[in-house]
Amino acid sequence: MPTITLDNGSTIEAPEGKRLVLALEDAGVDMLHRCGGFAICTTCRVAFADGEPTTMTAAERDRLADAGLFGQMRLSCQIICDHDMQLATINHLIGSPYDSAGNRPHNEVTPQPHWIKRPY
Ligand code: FES
Repeated sequence: MPTITLDNGSTIEAPEGKRLVLALEDAGVDMLHRCGGFAICTTCRVAFADGEPTTMTAAERDRLADAGLFGQMRLSCQIICDHDMQLATINHLIGSPYDSAGNRPHNEVTPQPHWIKRPY
């Protein structure tokens, strides 16, 4: 199982193939995913210290570029747990203006993923 190490030093054993946003949330990490995992809101974003995936979905690339976050952040709803990663979560329900984290993302990556090589 891939190990996810958070910036506070805690670790999560993530089921192979699970969406990162769900692996984090199901391990008790306070995560926002306001659009329900459709690469729209960017609230699920994370910052990698190590193990940034070398692939991404075209939807993630386009949304990060639109938001001015490309090359700095990744969308945890567009990432599959298939290797060890070290990262920081950015947005949390606690302290946010929202009354919920957002609808639970589907188990599969949405929208239908078109995988591309990370261009950097
Ligand atoms: S972009 Fe909205 S949950 Fe990931």
